[in-house]
Amino acid sequence: MHILVINGPNLNLLGRREPEIYGGETYDDLLRYIRGEAEKLGVSVSFFQSNHEGALVDAIQEALGQYNGIVINPAAYTHTSVALLDALKAVGLPAVEVHISDVSKREDFRQVSYVRAACVKTFMGLGFAGYGEALRCLAALDSGGAK
Ligand code: DQA
Repeated sequence: MHILVINGPNLNLLGRREPEIYGGETYDDLLRYIRGEAEKLGVSVSFFQSNHEGALVDAIQEALGQYNGIVINPAAYTHTSVALLDALKAVGLPAVEVHISDVSKREDFRQVSYVRAACVKTFMGLGFAGYGEALRCLAALDSGGAK
């Protein structure tokens, strides 16, 4: 099983960016964590991060035929992007939405998620562990198990 992990704008600045919300670990630490979890599950992972909405759309489209599932933290585009929703629907790959922080307890404008309608599950407020849960969810789907 091959999973694409997509991270949206400003997540490249993890560690430096609002550490009281997102923690002190960096984007490279995140990749290291996800690689470790993937290894335990026996799945392979690739990563894509961009600050640009269109580049994220391209990455989702290019996943077709290359990956069995997508883990996506669209960051701020979660709350604004119909284009990301449409791209996820268009490729039809199982996708899991992740947020490091608990967006349900934050500002009103973070209460909307456009991508959620195209995702089988959402993990939020678990820090990096949400990405591990997302991988487990996709691996279970792939093997026909419960979510
Ligand atoms: C985020 C939450 C979003 O509201 C925010 O814009 C982000 C990160 C998270 O991981 O908690 O950039 O997706």
